[in-house]
Amino acid sequence: MRNSAELYLQTLQKHFAQAPQWFSSGLSHPVTPFVPATGAALTTYQGGQYTAFQRWFHFKEAFSPEFVSAAIASLGYRPSHVIDPFGGSGTSAITSQLLSINATTVEVNPFLADVIKAKLSPLTGEKLLSAAIDFQAQLQDTPADLARLAHLPATFIEDEGKDRWIFPRDVARRLAQYLTCIDAIEDIDVQRFFRIVLGAVLVDCSNVYVNGKGRRYRGAWRLNQPVPEKLDLHFGQQFNTSFEDVMRFEQRPRSRVTVINGDSRTALQEVQEKADLVVFSPPYPNSFDYTDIYNVELWVLGYIESSRDNLTLRNKTLRSHVQVRRSYEGPKGKSKKLSSVLDLLGSRRDTLWDSTIPEMVGAYFHDLELVLEQSQRLLESTGRVMMVVGDSRYANVRIEVATILAELAESMGFGRVTTREVRQMRASAQQGGSFQLAESIVELTL
Ligand SMILES: C[S@@+](CC[C@H](N)C(=O)[O-])C[C@H]1O[C@@H](n2cnc3c(N)ncnc32)[C@H](O)[C@@H]1O
Repeated sequence: MRNSAELYLQTLQKHFAQAPQWFSSGLSHPVTPFVPATGAALTTYQGGQYTAFQRWFHFKEAFSPEFVSAAIASLGYRPSHVIDPFGGSGTSAITSQLLSINATTVEVNPFLADVIKAKLSPLTGEKLLSAAIDFQAQLQDTPADLARLAHLPATFIEDEGKDRWIFPRDVARRLAQYLTCIDAIEDIDVQRFFRIVLGAVLVDCSNVYVNGKGRRYRGAWRLNQPVPEKLDLHFGQQFNTSFEDVMRFEQRPRSRVTVINGDSRTALQEVQEKADLVVFSPPYPNSFDYTDIYNVELWVLGYIESSRDNLTLRNKTLRSHVQVRRSYEGPKGKSKKLSSVLDLLGSRRDTLWDSTIPEMVGAYFHDLELVLEQSQRLLESTGRVMMVVGDSRYANVRIEVATILAELAESMGFGRVTTREVRQMRASAQQGGSFQLAESIVELTL
């Protein structure tokens, strides 16, 4: 069912149904105003497994391409440049490219930045096919040398005396072969494509699963451990899926899309080209660190090679979690709602699972204020900022993110500031369980 061509085409059509007319004509047209599909999943992967490019890597918090194309259409004119400071799996970048619009996207996580680059790069079916043939031939003759994975933390590979491991030894040996063959691919775009295909199947071929709460061992994992043939099968299937999108979209327009692997709080300062649309969904202040969620990929694929690398990456992420101790200064701007939230959180500090949560919440808004300052500098007078944000809750105090950001944006001098709730999300167990949290769109103009 996963690769049902019919379903894939239907979903693709649906996701690009709202694409403005210039998608095919290259002409500029006034288009319909943005109507958020209330109740529609804006930042969930729902349907992503059938959608071109989304299905290259399961990224749960991704925008739908439909959301990005509707946001572009809502401008009412053809934008020259779109910026996304929190690229994730690259939905805004690839959607802009498909619509022939220039784009810049910033993503702090080097693995995810490569997922985005892989989707955008000028690959051809022919190049990939010939690389796949060479790859398969080479794989047979490549020694399965675990030294290739020597940088991994102790918990990753099965060994005597260990009581848990993410990969059985024979799967790790097969992984070492894959990595050695990928290293040997000369064309950098092709090499990245293969690495991302491998990244997309790693967790499925391990003893763990990963969700918003982090990494967990599967039930009865010792009895059901993966085998190297599973890795071969999943790699082959994922290769075919991503390859199909490369083939189908080989002739797509190639607008200029820049991917910056960096921290948007500082990296945006380097961007000089004004934008008509700044569209993003930042991490929500719910204490999840994406460094944990994509940790298996980061380590195995060599994006991080030591605990120091891991720490350096955590320190570059938005202060939406307390995984590392950092300085926690609040925003400069004024928000009554934020002040009252921080007072309440402070008064309930004893009941919080981490005593620095009140300061983290303040710092979260400071970080988003930095991103908004740069967005204000970069925005064309006719443009708009569109953010999808989600509330959080600690010790029964709701962090009303959209309201707080709207107040900060007003104090920063944005002209029109609107917020609208689009979805209710179920809260995580860590946040107290069963109640609902709002996801909202905040829209700003100069
Ligand atoms: C909600 S996701 C964005 C999803 C994206 N809209 C998509 O469609 O795939 C937020 C992203 O922000 C990234 N991030 C966190 N801190 C960052 C920072 N300081 N600078 C840039 N990106 C950051 C995370 O790694 C994560 O990929």
